[in-house]
Amino acid sequence: MTTPFPKHFLWGAATSAYQIEGYPLADGAGASIWHRFAHTPGRVARAETGDLACDHYHRYRDDVALMAELGLNTYRFSVAWGRVLPEGRGAINQRGLDFYERLVDTLLAHGIRPMLTLYHWDLPVALHERGGWLNPDSPHWFADYAATLFRALADRVPLWVTLNEPWVVTVPGYLDGQLAPGHRDLFEPPRVAHHLLLAHAEAVAAYRTLGRHQIGLAVNLEPQHPASSAPADQTASRRRDAFINRWFLDPLLLGRYPDELADIFGLAWPDYSAESLKVIHSRPDFIGVNYYSRGLVCAAPDAPPLKAQRITPTHAELTTMGWEVYPKGLTETLCWVRDRYANPPLYITENGAAFADPAPHQGLVNDPQRVAYLRTHLQAAATALEQGVDLRGYYVWSLLDNFEWAEGYSQRFGLYQVDPHDQRRWPKTSAQFYQAVIRSHGAAV
Ligand code: NOJ
Repeated sequence: MTTPFPKHFLWGAATSAYQIEGYPLADGAGASIWHRFAHTPGRVARAETGDLACDHYHRYRDDVALMAELGLNTYRFSVAWGRVLPEGRGAINQRGLDFYERLVDTLLAHGIRPMLTLYHWDLPVALHERGGWLNPDSPHWFADYAATLFRALADRVPLWVTLNEPWVVTVPGYLDGQLAPGHRDLFEPPRVAHHLLLAHAEAVAAYRTLGRHQIGLAVNLEPQHPASSAPADQTASRRRDAFINRWFLDPLLLGRYPDELADIFGLAWPDYSAESLKVIHSRPDFIGVNYYSRGLVCAAPDAPPLKAQRITPTHAELTTMGWEVYPKGLTETLCWVRDRYANPPLYITENGAAFADPAPHQGLVNDPQRVAYLRTHLQAAATALEQGVDLRGYYVWSLLDNFEWAEGYSQRFGLYQVDPHDQRRWPKTSAQFYQAVIRSHGAAV
């Protein structure tokens, strides 16, 4: 059987700290904005929190054993900033850092390459109280935190992601208010985004002084398609494309924000200094692409600031998140990044789907829809490889069913189901499928 996947292709799964670890305050950790948000009534469905999550904090060894059984040669996880620096800066909490040292060593002992995400949305509350990402010092806080992690782990961790989905930090976090910290303010997102970009750039610069070269960021991308050929829908889909796909990548790789953003934010769009844009304009070693779906867009003149809105196509297969299953969009997205940003090395840092899985039967959870989702998206990745995309790895979101932010535990993305009562992990048929894919090096796709 032939396979388009290159010899050193990385096969992984991804998770994040607050979503799986549990015990967010253990061993001297400082609270994060997610801990606070989840404990604020009305913020998360059924008042669920990450207090227990998958108890990965205590069960990480068993979870790494599951990864080894799957045949993963890489694993993407995030560090909870407040475990390492309870106040967000200043004194290191060695017990928190020790957890990640143990995790990394366990991964390496199993031949699994760690990909470490520095920021997956859990800002320490202590920093939030100083303005969080709105504070112009926030990029320095982040770079100092990153340097702490580089000093501790850069000798053992080959792949680093600075920020996970800065757009989601910015828009659901500061414009729509659905995710922590839950702000709704037109003036904040442009500032937050700029500080996030500076934070990324400063952390990369700190990493470069170590003479190492595998650091990037992970962005959520989705092709935007107009819902009709009407000019208003076409304009709307271009605006949404600038807003979601180009807001972070353009300044980073091209040195400027897309013009549409000034129009979208109007008076709330700042006059950024040329120097700060120059700092941001820096090529990462790779770009991580989180891909789930596409956007089908129509004009919405009464829905400022974007005046564009996503609609749900009729007759399409949807996941329980309400997202259309649209594998072709993955090829389209990867080729778009290749063309617009001069063919950077890419990882698919997240791809997966939530479905209403049944209870385990004879020790196995039957999830044919997820198997089909993964198969068709891996095929789409293979097509992109055949078209010359420099794709180096693929990470399923997620290893385990986990805390899906404002949705709580109802949305299940895992290759393993987690029993909420006794924390047992039950494999799904998608885990078996992925194991076969990895064994055959992609030929079984
Ligand atoms: C994006 C995020 O990075 C992750 O935390 C989330 O659970 C998945 N997508 C699914 O929504």
